[in-house]
Order: sequence, then C-alpha cells, then structure tokens
Amino acid sequence: MTDPLSSWHRLAGGCVLLDGFHALKHAVRFGAEVPVAVTTDRRAALALAEELAPDVQDRLDTLLTEVPEETYRSLVPRPHPTAVAALAVRPSRQDNLRTLELPRSAPVVVLDQPRNLGNAGAVVRLAAGFGATGVVTTGTLDPWHPTVVRGGAGLHFATVVERLTVEELPRGPLFALDPEGEDIRGVKLPDDAVLAFGSERSGLSAWLRARTDHLLALPMRPKVSSYNLATSVAMALYHWSAGGGASAP
Ligand SMILES: C[S@@+](CC[C@H](N)C(=O)[O-])C[C@H]1O[C@@H](n2cnc3c(N)ncnc32)[C@H](O)[C@@H]1O
Repeated sequence: MTDPLSSWHRLAGGCVLLDGFHALKHAVRFGAEVPVAVTTDRRAALALAEELAPDVQDRLDTLLTEVPEETYRSLVPRPHPTAVAALAVRPSRQDNLRTLELPRSAPVVVLDQPRNLGNAGAVVRLAAGFGATGVVTTGTLDPWHPTVVRGGAGLHFATVVERLTVEELPRGPLFALDPEGEDIRGVKLPDDAVLAFGSERSGLSAWLRARTDHLLALPMRPKVSSYNLATSVAMALYHWSAGGGASAP
C-alpha cells in the first residue's frame, strides 16, 4: 500500500486541500478526483459517513487512511473538528472556460474584484446550492484559495469556479446588482443571465457598470447603505429561482 504521507507531499502542490469531513463528502459526491484522504479516526469518520452520507459511504471507506494525530496536524493549517483531510485535483481552466461558453440553463455569478475570502466561499456554496453554472471572479483574489475552499464546504466541484480577466467574462445578458438600480422584484432574470456583483469596498467597477444591460437593486429600507456581498448573491439567485418579475426588454 502507498504511504499516504508521501502521496500527500508529492501531490500537495497541484491539488486542493479538502478540510474536514463535509468538504470531502461534497467533493466526492460531485465527482472530484481525490487521490488521498486521511483521518485520525477511521471508525468515527465512517460512522459520520453512514449517518450523513450513505450515498458515498463505500467510496469514503476505500479512500480514507488512518494516520497518527501528529501526522494529520502536520498536513493542515489548523485541525478540523472531524479530523478528516484530503487532496482533490483542481478542474482545468480550459475545461472551465469551455463549460462557461456552452449554452446555459442557469446563471453565472460574477464577483467583480472581491476582497473577502469568506464571502467568496459563501458565494460558491450558494451557487452550488442553486445549481448556478458557475462563479467567476475578476481581480486578484484566488477563488481556489484554501480559505475560499473551506468556506465553500467542498462545493467548488459542484459548479464552475474560475478567475478570469474582464475580457474573458462569459457572454450573455449582463445584470449588475447595485443599490441604485431598478427594483429587481419587477424583473425576471433569464436562465442565461450573467449576474454581476461589486466589491465589498467600492462596489461595481466602472468597466462593468458601463457594459451592463440592466442595473438592478435589491429592496432595502432608506438609510441602509448596502447588503453584504454574499447575502446579495443569495437574494438575487433566490429571485432567479423563484422566476418572479417580467422579462427584461
Ligand atoms: C457591500 S456591497 C458594496 C458596497 C460599496 N460600498 C458600494 O459603494 O457599493 C457589495 C455588492 O453587493 C451588492 N449589493 C449590496 N447591496 C445591494 C442592494 N441593495 N441592491 C443591489 N445590490 C446590492 C452590489 O453588487 C454591491 O456592489
């Protein structure tokens, strides 16, 4: 049998850390290639699988190797309560770009120069939950940063996640969210919409604002400046999923 520690060190550079049982469960469920997975307590991890993820229980049984506590601690930035960690192969940029160019049956979320890794992770989780085609970021934040993957609970494998230049943004009707826009409740979001959100600090960039087809606002009481970025994505995706409003001209 291959030593999990040497596999880990050989693969770590080119793979994504799945931190905790739930991240591993989601990644396996959505087809991630997982070359190595470790835990300090196989029995406890498999009991969790039996209780919470019977659909992938056999796969986890095959994947998980028990390692000593100190080995596990040497592999992760901070120990997770479930004491499970794994490495997964990151989907290729070429495959992601190809998927984003295909005709879409669900929107793509664009985060325009986001800054907060926790927000980006929460948005990936939302996009996966709503069945969005993908989450695209512009700017310097890496949407596959370990903190984003941790926030996304392993759901980076359930939707396309990629950082693009503004020139590479997917085609489709562009709906940008901004408190100064038209009330979103009167507008039906099409399935091929590109839904763009501004950065936490400065909102939508001038570039996106100039190219947007529709500027939409989430309902908000006077004197409140704005919502949190991930919360705004949640409301917009919910509005799309509910199918409310009239088709945009
Ligand atoms: C924290 S807000 C940005 C606040 C920023 N200070 C500004 O000047 O816009 C992050 C993003 O969430 C979205 N957002 C927040 N509140 C919104 C609202 N009431 N309507 C539409 N979008 C909103 C926008 O896309 C915004 O750029």
